[in-house]
Amino acid sequence: MAAPSKILIFDSGLGGLTVYREVAAVRPDADIVYAADDAGFPYNALPETALVARVVGLFDDLIAAHRPDLAVIACNTASTIALPTLREKFALPFVGTVPAIKPACAASVTRRVSVLGTEATVAREYTRALIRDFAKDCQVTLVGSKNLAPYAEAELAGAPTSDAQIRAEIAPCFVDDGKRTDTVVLACTHYPLLLDRLTRLAPWPVNYIDPAPAIARRVLDLLGPPAPLHRGSSHAMFSSGRAPHAVLARFGIEPQPTAVSGAK
Ligand code: DGL
Repeated sequence: MAAPSKILIFDSGLGGLTVYREVAAVRPDADIVYAADDAGFPYNALPETALVARVVGLFDDLIAAHRPDLAVIACNTASTIALPTLREKFALPFVGTVPAIKPACAASVTRRVSVLGTEATVAREYTRALIRDFAKDCQVTLVGSKNLAPYAEAELAGAPTSDAQIRAEIAPCFVDDGKRTDTVVLACTHYPLLLDRLTRLAPWPVNYIDPAPAIARRVLDLLGPPAPLHRGSSHAMFSSGRAPHAVLARFGIEPQPTAVSGAK
């Protein structure tokens, strides 16, 4: 029997768990390693060259230690700058997470779309190019948030941020110039962790686009369908060495005793 597929899922923190749960659902037979560079969180604060060097250094060690068949960069802030270097340096398929501007603009009826991401993601040339290539006649509003990813981490840690603070972060997404925004791209993997609150606090109903199901479909395209009869495993490791046990238990993931290392 062929060895089970091994998938590495990487983020700066816990946001990548929103991608993990979709990937695990479509490939329940795979052995999944969730690696979080929480000592480097938030990636939003890192200059581009430092971020690329840090992620490449971590992948040197992660690939040597785990020999994955495929890696998912479950972080828009990293994917929009580090993917070309990772693909050039390492001989395995990388699935990135980048703002879902194309499907959002295809789906918008009012032709008013907002992209809610970290400040770094919305400033990236990669994101601007997606808008040039795919927005067509849509008006796209870029909304960079400094605080929402840390708020999502706090929510998971059991210390939720106030409604007023979350409302302030999302307010610029809601444009009404005679036509109202009807679609908001969640361009940070942390944000779907707050989806219930984002929905409740929206001034009017919108379609929030979470890219995780599309990422899981891409993993399936590359690795193929699940192997019958094999039950996969899920482990998580953190660059701080501190695994949030209660959160991982909610996602059905075992903490791994070793820490993620290799950050430059
Ligand atoms: N989950 C990340 C993203 O998708 C990250 C936030 C950060 O580290 O600033 O962009």
